[in-house]
Amino acid sequence: MNDLLDRLRRRVGDAHVLTEPADVAAYVVDWTGVHVGRALAVVRPGSTEEVAAVVAACHEAGTTIVPQGGNTGLVGGGVPDASGSQVVLSLGRMRQVREVDPVAGTMTVDAGVVLADVQAVAEQAGRLFPMSLGSEGSCTIGGNLATNAGGTAVLRYGMSRELVLGLEVVLPDGRLWDGLRGLRKDNTGYDLTQLFVGSEGTLGVITGAVLRLFPATPRHATAWVAVRDVASAVSLLALAQQHAGAHLATFEIANRTALELVLAHLPGTSDPLAETSDWYVLVELAGAESEGGLDDALEALLGEAVDAGLASDAAVAGSPAQRSALWALREGISEAQKVESATLKHDVTLPIAGLAEWVAEIGPILQARLPGVRPVTYGHVGDGNLHYNLNAPLVDGHADDAALRSAAVDLSTAIYDAVAAGNGSISAEHGLGRTKAAAGAAYKSDVEVDLMRAVKQAIDPDGLMNPGVLLPPQS
Ligand code: FAD
Ligand code: MLT
Ligand code: ZN
Repeated sequence: MNDLLDRLRRRVGDAHVLTEPADVAAYVVDWTGVHVGRALAVVRPGSTEEVAAVVAACHEAGTTIVPQGGNTGLVGGGVPDASGSQVVLSLGRMRQVREVDPVAGTMTVDAGVVLADVQAVAEQAGRLFPMSLGSEGSCTIGGNLATNAGGTAVLRYGMSRELVLGLEVVLPDGRLWDGLRGLRKDNTGYDLTQLFVGSEGTLGVITGAVLRLFPATPRHATAWVAVRDVASAVSLLALAQQHAGAHLATFEIANRTALELVLAHLPGTSDPLAETSDWYVLVELAGAESEGGLDDALEALLGEAVDAGLASDAAVAGSPAQRSALWALREGISEAQKVESATLKHDVTLPIAGLAEWVAEIGPILQARLPGVRPVTYGHVGDGNLHYNLNAPLVDGHADDAALRSAAVDLSTAIYDAVAAGNGSISAEHGLGRTKAAAGAAYKSDVEVDLMRAVKQAIDPDGLMNPGVLLPPQS
């Protein structure tokens, strides 16, 4: 092993091969704090050539690699296992924006560029890179593509896979695949770019990407709307689509518990409505500078929603500061949940038509398994994607984290069974990682799992890239 570390140090410099516990600490625990591993070393290459050299050296030594971007993933896919034998390959030093072409509508970046920086560079060029996540200040484009991240702009622009045209990838044996093509049309065989999107570091290390840019949408009309229930939210979505058409950019839901956690734990937040409601929707219309009328469209939508009994009240943002305040209520939920107590995350999609019934049915099933468990239900309802997260029950005013942990398997199994029965997916946007690798395979057909294993075997025959992530070990 010392030979490998010496070789890595020669390739990337002593300062970028971390082995001291204090130096590696932040790289071996995930954002949720649930996954805590150990690493042989954390290696921080500064260029594609250095990534290729690191991967080649690990390949020769038979050492497994965990690629890591911003380490904001929610399923434990970016941190090492407990063996202490894995190399964490951090893309954190690869932060160059290589090229912006506003006319072609493309931006070519290193994989380690932080999402918020990509958004800012696009804006400076008068364009929009629409992907938006609560973690955008730390997550990287490489991580976004490796997880096929979603977020709050999927309704209008699609998932990460729809925002990328080409990739540069270091393969498990250290060879480089240069697929950095910005072509809109390229029907020359299997779509290798899309194969790596969503592969969660199990097929290679993404080192660069050609991203798609869109016309800027500097105008916004935003409202926080009190709705009666999930069925009303779904009806409001249909109404919003009629009123706003392509201007409908965001349609997010949150239950009252989610809002209360934000208000309790995030300083500076406040409830914009006088009366409480069980459910809320954050709706936003967005348009180009030349596209006026968004405020009128939103007002008409809200008026009709109140008349139809779908909404009881709404707060409309009258300034950029008010818009940010409404967004903070939605974007702060993950953080507030973490501060509150132990949390069990479920990132599910269902056909939108079945969403309301699913929510109504799952609640009592979970209460029977763990009385008092608190569903913190929110997410991208416009995409049929709910974060059906559970917080620990309160006992004498204190969160009973131990009770949630011991009921975790039972609760998650009940949720996944109900998702499968409703023709949904147990991972809408976070991926499978370590947390859900086994469940992911269990809810797929044997044929689908065989195909996935065949792809893995073809590209990574020695199983060196992120083993135990996405696919469970074979028994
Ligand atoms: P990491 O966490 O470092 O890694 C994630 C996975 O990608 C790992 O399997 C890792 O091995 C692999 N990987 C990372 N970089 C590379 C690379 N260059 N090449 C190959 N593999 C790589 N996700 C959503 O989809 N939608 C949301 O709305 C959303 N909101 C969030 C809000 C908060 C507050 C937080 C903390 C997370 C949220 N996430 C969300 C999850 C997370 O931010 C995304 O999964 C993000 O895409 C991860 O990017 P990262 O750079 O942090 O990747
Ligand atoms: C979000 O949309 O805020 C996250 O994806 C949800 C989560 O943290 O579970
Ligand atoms: Zn989400």
